[in-house]
Amino acid sequence: MSGTAQIGVTGLAVMGRNLARNFARNGFTVAVHNRTAAKTRALVEEFGEEGSFVAAESPEDFVAALERPRRLVIMVKAGEATDAVIREFAPLLEKGDVIIDGGNAHFEDTRRRERELRERGIHFVGVGISGGEEGALHGPSIMPGGSAESYESLGPLLERIAAKAPDGTPCVTHVGPDGAGHFVKMVHNGIEYADMQLIAEAYHLLRTVAGYSPEKIAETFRDWNTGRLDSYLIEITAEVLAHVDAATGKPFVDVVEDEAEQKGTGRWTVQIALDLGVPVSGIAEAVFARSLSGHAELREAARSLAGPAANPLGEKEAAAFAAQVEQALYASKIVSYTQGFHQVQAGSQNYDWDVDPGAVAAIWRAGCIIRAAFLDRIRAAYDAQPELPSLLSDKRFGDEIGAAQDDWRAVIVAAARQGVPVPGFSAALAYYDALRAERLPAALTQGQRDFFGAHTYRRTDREGSFHTLWGGDRSEVSTG
Ligand code: 2AM
Repeated sequence: MSGTAQIGVTGLAVMGRNLARNFARNGFTVAVHNRTAAKTRALVEEFGEEGSFVAAESPEDFVAALERPRRLVIMVKAGEATDAVIREFAPLLEKGDVIIDGGNAHFEDTRRRERELRERGIHFVGVGISGGEEGALHGPSIMPGGSAESYESLGPLLERIAAKAPDGTPCVTHVGPDGAGHFVKMVHNGIEYADMQLIAEAYHLLRTVAGYSPEKIAETFRDWNTGRLDSYLIEITAEVLAHVDAATGKPFVDVVEDEAEQKGTGRWTVQIALDLGVPVSGIAEAVFARSLSGHAELREAARSLAGPAANPLGEKEAAAFAAQVEQALYASKIVSYTQGFHQVQAGSQNYDWDVDPGAVAAIWRAGCIIRAAFLDRIRAAYDAQPELPSLLSDKRFGDEIGAAQDDWRAVIVAAARQGVPVPGFSAALAYYDALRAERLPAALTQGQRDFFGAHTYRRTDREGSFHTLWGGDRSEVSTG
């Protein structure tokens, strides 16, 4: 027997509830279920008129409500809860059914679950969903992994509920097999950390070096948001900066505890990047900047250390400096995305996913936190040249960063002179200068390694590996 619901959602906390409503509002019949049945009833009572819901009290009723092949979305906490729900539902399913995990799972967990369920003939699709509660309801950016076959059954539904890019294309694509979707969502979050850090550094510079008020900085960001930096994060930054605390009449940013928190996807991005050998220094600095801010006791103990005397710029110089900061922010942003897309491609290669980076850029154009006009240009760069070695190799990005570099350097110099930490801007510039360098000091590193550990080196003029007898007559021997 099979039911009439085209899709089911179990786990009806805010994200699950909003996703279920999004499916229903788009004309699908949605089976809904929650461990605690009161939430299921509340959803149907409150939002039942938005569409067609089938409320199920038991897992058996839930599964019976779904048409075949069944499509069942799990929206519970990542980790043990997801495994518990899979253990509960998998025995009730049949070959060809599809379990979709819309939580923020680690892609290695997704790979394991996909493998285990595949052996039982069940498709497991790990789906990255970005856009928060609002996105889940009105249209998120959706990053599904899993088999191509499962996407045939699932894709048309996801395309209906996804955000639409400015050109009308749904922000969803089959990213690649098994954990590819959750991997790409992880990198999305890493890039989000870097974007936020760069924006925070721009704010810090405008506040300290230019001497701008939060309101004036909000105005500056609003202005930037009409240009090439046009993005959701710049837009909300202006809103946050313009907000005045009702209780004290002070700028909101001055009454909030100055310690940034994190949930973990940024940290995963960096951990995995280390394993894959991908230099995502901008993302790493963003993660470290948050953890540094949280070390209140270390900061307190260091507060009396020497720094330069405050020396804010005059009004005219400040305006010129603000324009330079825009250049530095944009150039650093290009580097962050260069690093993030490098990681997507390295993951794709390592796990044999065949991810199309242009398609990833395309589905980040709307719905998600890093949505920006900029992503359309990344998509265009990869469409024009699918084998692009790095975003910096794209002529347009290369030209733009070239035009920005003088100001970018000047901003970092000013930051250093005035004692404003800009780890994101500096890491981005170091990456840029390192990539374009003819010679790095890596040859010296190789010499040191060969000296203390006989690790050998390669030569520029001959094939093979070599070792110098450092402790002896310093003659060179060929080692292979
Ligand atoms: P609950 O309302 O019964 O707590 C977010 O926590 C969502 O995941 C909630 O809908 C919650 O159900 C559900 N959830 C958390 N852990 C779960 C588990 N082990 N089994 C089933 N549902 C779970």
